[in-house]
Amino acid sequence: MDRSKPLLSVNDLSVDFRIDRKTTLHAVRHVSFEIYPEETLGILGESGCGKSVTCMSILQLNPARTTTYPTGSILFEGEDLLTLNGKQMQHIRGNKISMIFQEPMTALNPLYTIGNQLLEAIRIHNPNMERADAKDMVLEALNSVRIPNPDLIFDSYPFTLSGGMLQRSMIAMAMLAKPKLLICDEPTTALDVTIQAQVLELMNDLKEKEKTSIIFVTHDLGVINEMSDRVMVMYGGRKCEEGDAVEVFLHPARPYTKGLIASHPSPDYTGRRLPTIPGNVPSLRDMPKGCPFNNRCSKASDRCQDEFPAYETVGGNHCAACFAPESVKEAAEDGTV
Ligand SMILES: Nc1ncnc2c1ncn2[C@@H]1O[C@H](COP(=O)(O)OP(=O)(O)OP(=O)(O)O)[C@@H](O)[C@H]1O
Ligand SMILES: [Mg+2]
Repeated sequence: MDRSKPLLSVNDLSVDFRIDRKTTLHAVRHVSFEIYPEETLGILGESGCGKSVTCMSILQLNPARTTTYPTGSILFEGEDLLTLNGKQMQHIRGNKISMIFQEPMTALNPLYTIGNQLLEAIRIHNPNMERADAKDMVLEALNSVRIPNPDLIFDSYPFTLSGGMLQRSMIAMAMLAKPKLLICDEPTTALDVTIQAQVLELMNDLKEKEKTSIIFVTHDLGVINEMSDRVMVMYGGRKCEEGDAVEVFLHPARPYTKGLIASHPSPDYTGRRLPTIPGNVPSLRDMPKGCPFNNRCSKASDRCQDEFPAYETVGGNHCAACFAPESVKEAAEDGTV
């Protein structure tokens, strides 16, 4: 993996939603991260912490009328994606950067066959391609995501397919343009565990073959573990910890990351009751000042109520933002430095 130059670089991104004249919600605040060629970055966090909004910002898919980006830039191939107009963005979407969503049905049109929708995806970017050639490409794409009988699926309508087949079709559609970056927002959450495992394996195979970078969003620690080279943990619209996946899982620095890991059953799980993080993720309307986790954190001090901590290096490329010095120190002493 080449870590000399990032493929995509998100710098100090903040995303606001204007709800009415008096209310503006701060969904994402000062988030920076990079994704390098051929790597998978996992974004982990509980529901509502800003994972999807961050990903949608990359492709400008947040509602244009109500969304503003008060700070930040998203650099991709020398351009700031946040400054591109609709037409320029159209060229990026599905061509250089593709996205797969949790619910494939929301991304597919129920009135058209799978084949026609995949053909359309090709034609948008290659308007002069002969139909027969485009069809060959679609059948090959369906074949590459291990769909049995691609001919049959080509002529099927979305509602006749199972969730696993639909998600495979979506992956085929996303990969058709051989994007440099594939953003997967909880792509397997709606699938059975066995189908989920097959789809994850398929994505890893495609990544190897096509050398695509992947941003993989999930709240499932096991899935992150399986998919990611690096992981970024989000909470309350902030990045709170980031590093190589193995390092973050073995030596989590932030109390929140520790809590997430402790509450996840490990492979040698014996059925004992797992610890949970007390309380719930706050809503954007009553996000605590300072560190957003301060009202659930056993290590919170007065300082945590006032300001968000700076990111400190825990070791290697593992960094965390936390005022509880022993958390960061413990992680460092565990051998990650
Ligand atoms: N268009 C919008 N307008 C107003 N608020 C929004 C909008 N989109 C998202 N939000 C809010 O922004 C916050 C972050 O949402 P986001 O969808 O990024 O969460 P998430 O981390 O992806 O959660 P989940 O795991 O449930 O998908 C939430 O409080 C959500 O309600
Ligand atoms: Mg989401």
